[in-house]
Amino acid sequence: MDVAVLGYGTIGSGVVEVLKVNQDVIEKKAGCPLRVKYVLDLRDFPGDPVQRKLVKDFQVILQDPDVKIVAEAMGGLHPAYEFVRASLEAGKSVATSNKELVATYGAQLLRIAEEHHVNFFFEASVGGGIPVIRTMNMSLTPEYFIEVMGILNGTTNYILTQMEEAGATFEEALKQAQEKGYAERNPKADVEGYDACRKIAILSSLAFGKTVDYEQIPTEGITKITLDDLKVAKALGRKVKLVARSYQADGKVFAKVSPLLLKLSHPLASICGVYNGVLIRGNMVDDIVLQGKGAGKKATASAVVADIMTAARYFPYRISARCHWEEEILDLTDSRLM
Ligand code: HSE
Repeated sequence: MDVAVLGYGTIGSGVVEVLKVNQDVIEKKAGCPLRVKYVLDLRDFPGDPVQRKLVKDFQVILQDPDVKIVAEAMGGLHPAYEFVRASLEAGKSVATSNKELVATYGAQLLRIAEEHHVNFFFEASVGGGIPVIRTMNMSLTPEYFIEVMGILNGTTNYILTQMEEAGATFEEALKQAQEKGYAERNPKADVEGYDACRKIAILSSLAFGKTVDYEQIPTEGITKITLDDLKVAKALGRKVKLVARSYQADGKVFAKVSPLLLKLSHPLASICGVYNGVLIRGNMVDDIVLQGKGAGKKATASAVVADIMTAARYFPYRISARCHWEEEILDLTDSRLM
């Protein structure tokens, strides 16, 4: 089955790499070989074998009936939205790692996918390689969700860990995170908490069934955290973590992103470096905690490839339910009281 990859940055090139390196196991489990037919990018990559597959015009991909699956790893809202939407409308399934796209248009794109009998998957949009979306949508299906709480940004968790354990300054640790390919193109999205905010908006929308508008979530990042703060936290037997949290109480949903002092016994307190962790509380199953690499090329690309494989394995069927994610906006006006 032919696949097109949109964007040859960190994640897009990771998708090409995972499909190549793990080709054998992927073919067995997907039920067919998966071939990258096109890579869309405006840049050239001389010396890289991808150059032969490179196209600069999205129409080439859209109009090729052999391309059944599109992996979107361009990031940003536009033109990613237009390309994903057009792909779904043309009967192609889509797997994306783009949290901004999913947080903003997730419900709408799920509806369009349903109308066109194709799949819209977005496992890699939250938690890098952690299968959190699949767990919520495919495993915890009988649950009423009560709470979702997570360390959802690898860059900031890496920075806090480096500051705490290696005595690095904020700037040094951020530079390292950028060199390792964890940080967003504009690292403000990481350090000001916007990235974690979009991710908790996605998880909250899935948990509570309506679209959580990320602009309504009170959000504070880690730019004000100093080495002294971390020392004080340590003396108190606590860890400073950037926590994204939403919960339902008395029929209202609350959501917030902010640094918190976690007791060492808290399940998220020991999650260090680029790792992310998510605590999901269902009314029957109680607490589920997932952790794993929350950013970085291979872990995130693996999650995209898992979605590509699911789309291939069940082709031509649509397997995702609507995820009970409606386009209606959820009221978060009480979140300031959190
Ligand atoms: N910049 C993001 C992070 C990448 O650090 O978590 C993964 O979404």
